Amino acid sequence: MKAQRWILAGLLLCLGGSLGAADEPPTYYGAVAPILNANCVGCHTEGGIAPFPLDSAEWAAKMAPAIASAVTEGRMPPWPPGAASPRMRGERRLSPEAVAALVSWAKAGAPLGEGKGPVLTSSRPPARTPDLVTAMPRAYTPDSRLYDDYRCFLLDAEFERDIFVQGYRIKPGQGQLVHHVILFVIGPEAVQRARAQDGADGRPGWQCFGGPRLGASTGALGDALGFWVPGTQGTDYPPGTGKEVKAGSRIVMQVHYNLSAPARPDQSRLELFFSDPSSRPRPIHRMILAAPVEVRCPPGVSGKACERASALERSELKRVADGIHLLCGTTVEDYLRRDIGDGSRQETHCDFGVREDGTALGVLAHMHLRGVAFRISLNPGTPGERVLLDIPRWDFHWQGEYYFEEPIVLRRGDRVRISCVYDNAETILGPDGRPLEPRYLTWGEGTTDEMCLGGISWVK
Ligand code: HEC
Repeated sequence: MKAQRWILAGLLLCLGGSLGAADEPPTYYGAVAPILNANCVGCHTEGGIAPFPLDSAEWAAKMAPAIASAVTEGRMPPWPPGAASPRMRGERRLSPEAVAALVSWAKAGAPLGEGKGPVLTSSRPPARTPDLVTAMPRAYTPDSRLYDDYRCFLLDAEFERDIFVQGYRIKPGQGQLVHHVILFVIGPEAVQRARAQDGADGRPGWQCFGGPRLGASTGALGDALGFWVPGTQGTDYPPGTGKEVKAGSRIVMQVHYNLSAPARPDQSRLELFFSDPSSRPRPIHRMILAAPVEVRCPPGVSGKACERASALERSELKRVADGIHLLCGTTVEDYLRRDIGDGSRQETHCDFGVREDGTALGVLAHMHLRGVAFRISLNPGTPGERVLLDIPRWDFHWQGEYYFEEPIVLRRGDRVRISCVYDNAETILGPDGRPLEPRYLTWGEGTTDEMCLGGISWVK
């Protein structure tokens, strides 16, 4: 018995000794490279979307202090949904142990350790070959006299049979200019009208503020095939589901160019992945959510730009603002009466009723530059409340669509709330890098207008 105790104590000592070795800082070839490869290199590689690579010992060591601060402050890997959100597919999160390892490695002066040569990179799945690759038929140079140019393009792709899109990648040609892309599917009856408009003003495509405007049945955001906003990596719908495209339909690509960067020819591209036709996918529907935007100037700041009337001089904005108040049962006065404190957290929300039973698969969120927090919740204010998406620190550059690990049941009569928070207290930098003073903000597609837009992707 005693002997056993001694053996145990000896074992513990040995263990203690080897644990003591953990005081040795982690090395690049030891703990660090696998963390970077699994969590960073997907973007931080030659030709990736990040500005520098992290797939070589040289680069990693050079960037070590920046890496430590980016992961400690939660800026990298970029993943806007906060802890209150459900678990999402493809989450980009580092474990606390991984953060600690990167930080102590950087503190120790980024030692390389044993090993050499390129470290085999992550288990990224091999790139799939798209089933269809298409693009704007001709390059378009946005109109440099405008601040925001919205243009629609009829893509060449034709569909001879009904198909299901399982995933897509939208590749903006000019990342500096393209602010968003929406893919609308138009039925055969609208194709003639699209052809007639296309090029009618002597330039490729047609003017397209608010949608393709090809008749009543086209241009509903809820029916959109897909979209791109800054930070979007592409979408793959959950297995067994897809977006249906009927035979004879065509795709209209709406591109919003923001001309704070110099106008250059753009030819944005689209890659589509189809579902296996024998797999009978369930069609995805989208419930669109929106709330009024009535964001006031902070106390003490006044002038014409802070008056609602001046924000609504563009008549199309007034129509949108009125429409959303009608939808939400709110009035402008509700917003004008409110105490906004110092103006740095102005909230707006709107509730929607679920009209039929279904299963929610995912969510999407969209605001512009003054947005600071975003949330979609199911049955708010009841014991069964469920957060569907919570973004505690909104970042315009990282937007997108999220799909749940576990689908969420929706029942007819459930209520869904979208809520957005704006900070209108400070002067911020606009898309052109120049300061944007606070002004009265209303709903508008322009980059320096605001939006409170969300959606739920669901199946019956
Ligand atoms: C989804 C793509 C993506 C992933 C994954 C990613 N990055 Fe980045 N990273 C970017 C982009 C794009 C930028 C430049 C723009 C920006 O700062 O948002 C960037 C910038 C940075 C910067 C400089 C700016 C800053 O915020 O400090 C550091 C450091 C960095 N990344 C480290 C990392 C590390 C470490 C990881 C993995 C733990 C990682 N990144 C994962 C896309 C990514």
